[in-house]
Amino acid sequence: MRITAEGLGWSAAGTPVVRGVDLDVAAGETVALIGPNGCGKSSLLRLLAGLRAPDAGAVRYDGLPVRDWSARRIARRVAFVEQDCGLDTDPRVADVVGLGRTPFRDRWRGPSDTDRAIVDAALDRVGLDALAERSWKSLSGGERQRAHIARALAQQPYALLMDEPTNHLDVKHRLELMELLSRTDQTVLLALHDLSLAARYCDRLLLMRAGRLVASGSPAEVLTPAHLAETFEVDAELSTDRPGHPTLVYHGPLRAPTPRTAPASRTAPAPRPTSTTRTSPRQGTP
Ligand SMILES: Nc1ncnc2c1ncn2[C@@H]1O[C@H](COP(=O)(O)OP(=O)(O)OP(=O)(O)O)[C@@H](O)[C@H]1O
Ligand SMILES: [Mg+2]
Repeated sequence: MRITAEGLGWSAAGTPVVRGVDLDVAAGETVALIGPNGCGKSSLLRLLAGLRAPDAGAVRYDGLPVRDWSARRIARRVAFVEQDCGLDTDPRVADVVGLGRTPFRDRWRGPSDTDRAIVDAALDRVGLDALAERSWKSLSGGERQRAHIARALAQQPYALLMDEPTNHLDVKHRLELMELLSRTDQTVLLALHDLSLAARYCDRLLLMRAGRLVASGSPAEVLTPAHLAETFEVDAELSTDRPGHPTLVYHGPLRAPTPRTAPASRTAPAPRPTSTTRTSPRQGTP
């Protein structure tokens, strides 16, 4: 399913957060949305997922404007994994994943055998099959994140929108998830802070800064030293020494570290570094 947006804008408390965003994610593409904290990635994903109405512009799925669609109609096409999705209640893990079947179920009927089989398969895909009967609150942070991903997979959507789905995952599960997302036929748009994962697994990157999309293209086109400096304020480069394994090499933050002021003490002054104290360019930053 193709997702497009034209002139998308949204403000919070009078402050523009998403500004004039035009985007076009083709059916089957795997696209990473990257940018620094607070640049508007989550806000943009919520607009694209139909969870929030834009103040300006429109979101379209396969060319159809979704503004007036019901949540159920949207959820039959798009699954969204939020950045932080806690639960107040303590259901079974399988029931949380089973929520992904809600858009397809008759309101008054329980899950069918097909629903149960789809939930089992989704749990299996994220390696949580052994925890299906466990209570939600007994899960670790990474297990909860994988359960939310399984819930999105159980929805069998045409498009997956994910907000930092790897942030609680260990390295094996990060790689497994990224492989799954890069191989699927579904359209995938995910916010990611791990730029090496984005470079390795995504067809295209969208770079966001202060509410605007400022670059779109292949990892090599977007992750240039100039973009990394302007947007993330780091001295970094994309290493392509190992074909198929692009990696971000960070040399350091661009801003000079501010010297730490000695904490006020009534007893003794803070010890000064001796000549044997190892110093680094980052020492002194909080
Ligand atoms: N409901 C809201 N009310 C007020 N400000 C908001 C609201 N939602 C978002 N913002 C602000 O809009 C900006 C963008 O927030 P958003 O969560 O979209 O950023 P982000 O790019 O996802 O950041 P991060 O990388 O930290 O997840 C932030 O400055 C945030 O504080
Ligand atoms: Mg966010």
